[in-house]
Order: sequence, then C-alpha cells, then structure tokens
Amino acid sequence: MSEARMTALRLENLTRRFKSGEETLEILSGASFSLYPGEIVALVAPSGTGKSTLLHLAGLLEAPTEGTVYIGEKPVSGLSDTVRTAVRRDQIGFVYQFHHLLGEFTACENVMLPQLVAGVSAKAAKVRAEDLLGRFGLSHRLNSLPGRLSGGEQQRTAIARALANRPKLLLADEPTGNLDIATSDHVFDELLRVVREEGVAALIATHNKELAARMDRTVTLRDGKLVPF
Ligand SMILES: Nc1ncnc2c1ncn2[C@@H]1O[C@H](COP(=O)(O)OP(=O)(O)OP(=O)(O)O)[C@@H](O)[C@H]1O
Ligand SMILES: [Mg+2]
Repeated sequence: MSEARMTALRLENLTRRFKSGEETLEILSGASFSLYPGEIVALVAPSGTGKSTLLHLAGLLEAPTEGTVYIGEKPVSGLSDTVRTAVRRDQIGFVYQFHHLLGEFTACENVMLPQLVAGVSAKAAKVRAEDLLGRFGLSHRLNSLPGRLSGGEQQRTAIARALANRPKLLLADEPTGNLDIATSDHVFDELLRVVREEGVAALIATHNKELAARMDRTVTLRDGKLVPF
C-alpha cells in the first residue's frame, strides 16, 4: 500500500443499535469514513444524530453493532479489551466537552500521568508535559490544580493531556462546547496550531460552523451515514 493511501483512522460500515425496552434504535447505519495522517476534519451534525456515538466507536470506548474500526490500517474494534485499551493508550487521544482532569493532581501531573501509564520515565514525562503546556500558553500554570484554572485553561490542559503520548489520532467531542465564544475561539486556535505542529490526524465534533471552516474539511451525519457537509 502506498504511503498516500494509508489512513490514520478508517471506519467501515459502522452500525450502532441501542435497545430501549421493546424498541431498537439505530443511530449509525453503515457509516464509512477515512481520515488521513495529519488531516483535521470537522464533524458537524444536529444534536442526537450520533456524533458522540461515532467518536466513542472510533475511540474504541464502545463496540459497533456491525462494522470495523481500523486504526493505522489495523482492524481493532473486534479485539480484546486489553488490546483495545493498549491501542487507546498508545495511539488515540480523546478530548471531551468537559475536561475530566483529575482534581487532586496539578496540570503538569495530569499531562504526565498517561505517559507514566505508558511506561515513560517521570523525567521524560515532565519534560514533555512542560513543553506541551508551554505551547498552550500555560507555562505559568504547571503547578495549579484544575479547580484553580479557568475553563479555557482546563480545556487546554485536557488537550495537552490527550496529545501527551504522541497519538496518531486525536478525537474531540465538542472540545470547546462549554466555553464562551471568545474563549472557545482562542482555545481552538491553539488546538489547531499544536495539532498541526504535532502532525496528528484529528476528527473534531463541533456545533460551530466557523470553527469547522478552519479545518481541512467537514463531514456530517445523514441517515446514519457520514457524508461531506
Ligand atoms: N447508551 C445508549 N442507549 C440508548 N440510546 C443511546 C445511548 N447512547 C446514545 N443514545 C441515543 O443515540 C442518539 C445519538 O446520541 P449522541 O449522543 O451520539 O448524539 P450527538 O450527535 O452527540 O448529540 P449532541 O450534539 O447533543 O451531543 C440519541 O438519540 C441518544 O439518545
Ligand atoms: Mg454529543
């Protein structure tokens, strides 16, 4: 396979059904999508159409009812919990709308933790955490607990944490969705800059069409399938 055709993420015919009582709800119906290395794609679709569901499948947090998730050309969605956890840890960064930082650890420690879990030495993890947080304009907040950070600072720390292990793939579910417009704009500038610097492929769900326009292309969900916006 030529380098140009490699994908960072490939979704093949994903279907996701939820059972609620007697009824079965089909949210995704054969969704397929390719994300190429270094590409940043926006996912813009109305509430309830399945953006979070899709990101959870792509991030190996949930299993599809049918179909396959490929990370770096490897089919991984059907593998064991242990393998999927390892793939998630080493190759995927995930950012949620609400930061989910660990409140009892400093910003720097929060960015160090996933590296320590992956076996990086404390010294190297600290260097990487300080570098990343510095690039998000947080050099003066390294030792602050999350509760002492502003909303924008918390989200920038969460993005730095998602990038800590140099993933090939960043998945973000409305990463600035709980911030005011000015803060959201600023955090997004930094997210896009650092993601491009790191060369990470990213799929980012957002309701904000102006933010989406700053990415390489936009896809939407229609009838449970991913289509160009
Ligand atoms: N675990 C579940 N069990 C049953 N239904 C679910 C489950 N998870 C999601 N759904 C349903 O699937 C649909 C899609 O939900 P999802 O959260 O993926 O939408 P979304 O596009 O992310 O919406 P929003 O923009 O509001 O975040 C919704 O109708 C939701 O109720
Ligand atoms: Mg959602």
